[in-house]
Amino acid sequence: MSEAALAERPATKTTTPQFSLKPLCFRLGEEVIGLDLTRCDDISDDTIKALWNTLCHRGILLFRKQHLNHDQHLAFTRRFGPLAKTGLTSRYAPDGYPDIFTVTNIRKNGERSETENAAQQWHTDQTFLEVPARASMLRCEIPPQNGGDTMFCSTHHIYEDLSEGLKKTLAPLRAFHTLFSQRSKVMAGRKPLSDEEMSRVYGEQGAMQPVVLTHPETGRKVLYINEQCVDHFDGWTVEESAPLLDYLYAQIRHPMYQYRHRWSAGDVVFWDNRCTQHYAPLDYDFANRDAPQNHRLMFRSTLA
Ligand SMILES: [Fe+2]
Repeated sequence: MSEAALAERPATKTTTPQFSLKPLCFRLGEEVIGLDLTRCDDISDDTIKALWNTLCHRGILLFRKQHLNHDQHLAFTRRFGPLAKTGLTSRYAPDGYPDIFTVTNIRKNGERSETENAAQQWHTDQTFLEVPARASMLRCEIPPQNGGDTMFCSTHHIYEDLSEGLKKTLAPLRAFHTLFSQRSKVMAGRKPLSDEEMSRVYGEQGAMQPVVLTHPETGRKVLYINEQCVDHFDGWTVEESAPLLDYLYAQIRHPMYQYRHRWSAGDVVFWDNRCTQHYAPLDYDFANRDAPQNHRLMFRSTLA
């Protein structure tokens, strides 16, 4: 690991007797080695604090082959704070677990899953809410035989590499985040929301967010717009915003800022929604997704 990459890591001690870290790539991500998440009561509060600190600085944590069940998944998530509330998740929740969101291409009662292609655009979870989820934890139960990856990028490094002139232009801007933006693809193919779901989940059908967010825990600035939710800057038209948004979204898609995770059954990836974005590239035989070797089954929890 280079000195520059080491300098990126949190200043506080990140290796406790309970775990060690291995960088996933230069700009983001650490694999956490040595913890058994099925027994999260055995993990000390100091270890939880060290994990959280590492997450805030490095964006994502990977815990390989943990094979958690729903209770263990929620118990580990809750060690970092209360769960996020979002009424829509109950539509995609496993029976008895309203706080878990199912991401799958497996049919239920013969019907196609509405979440089979939920991460088809780069995004951060729930930025359309006034207070978006701080972090999300996704576990893999069944990966496709070939592919089914999830990609992550560091929006702090993307921001840092912009010119000083562009940073000055972006500094005062805000953007309205909504799943009903002209660029959003996520609602296509989903059953319309009921009035009750709409008011419960979306309130005003979206939320105003700063274009440059200061991460509340690291103090680092991040580019905080995403293709799934933003089609214009506040006070600008969609047409006026398009060239600048296109430029910024191209930076978000640049491979130099990314980590790509190839899932194994049992893996858990925990990400900070304030300084990363994620995307699922549909790099498997999606046309034949009903074949068992192409099934993909993932479960996500979110932190308030
Ligand atoms: Fe997501």
